Amino acid sequence: MSKKIAPSLLAADFGNLQKDVEMVNNSDADWHHIDVMDGVFVPNISYGMPVVKSIAKHATKPLDVHLMIIDPDRYIKTFAELGASVLSVHYEACTHLHRTLQAIKTEGMKAGVALNPHTSITLLEDTIQDIDVVCLMSVNPGFGGQSFIENTYQKITDLKQLIKKKNTNTLIEIDGGVNSSNAKKLVDTGADVLVAGSFVFKSENPTATIKDLKQTIN
Ligand code: DX5
Ligand code: ZN
Repeated sequence: MSKKIAPSLLAADFGNLQKDVEMVNNSDADWHHIDVMDGVFVPNISYGMPVVKSIAKHATKPLDVHLMIIDPDRYIKTFAELGASVLSVHYEACTHLHRTLQAIKTEGMKAGVALNPHTSITLLEDTIQDIDVVCLMSVNPGFGGQSFIENTYQKITDLKQLIKKKNTNTLIEIDGGVNSSNAKKLVDTGADVLVAGSFVFKSENPTATIKDLKQTIN
């Protein structure tokens, strides 16, 4: 299966969101990565449902929604109605993770779990069979444009081992500080999906940057 690129719209031009969503539509990207932050789970507020609704109206590729919010169960149905294909919740924000994953699947979405940099892969031993996508945070969540944390490679190796041991089809997604210097090593280590925000949107030619990234990893 080809390795995926998911541009993070957090780094897009909010004054002209439609244009950036269409750029992603017409690029070699695979998913639209959508970061929802509540100012409580993370020290920043990004955007909420009305903005996600506008993105969904123009997007033609699957919506990969990353919830950086406490108590995400409250909004699972809402994000399904908004058209999310993948809904990721944070391990650290879920008291009853198994129940949350079932609720996401009941709504017809793929269930994702994001892990903060300090959260060990071993904590997924008993849920990996229920997870479609594990999103490894390679920065502390809350902001775009931060530097990649090198320990992520070890986490990918450990996660890959767990996925093999349990014989699941879980995808490994990497989120934060992804660029052309670490993309190849990330997929060679076992990543399946790379999220890239600043590296794509702050580049001179985002379409060409996505194309290059996609070629680098496939
Ligand atoms: C961080 C977000 C990321 C962010 C990545 O909390 O989850 O998706 O947009 O941005 P870059 O690629 O700039 O690190
Ligand atoms: Zn994200």
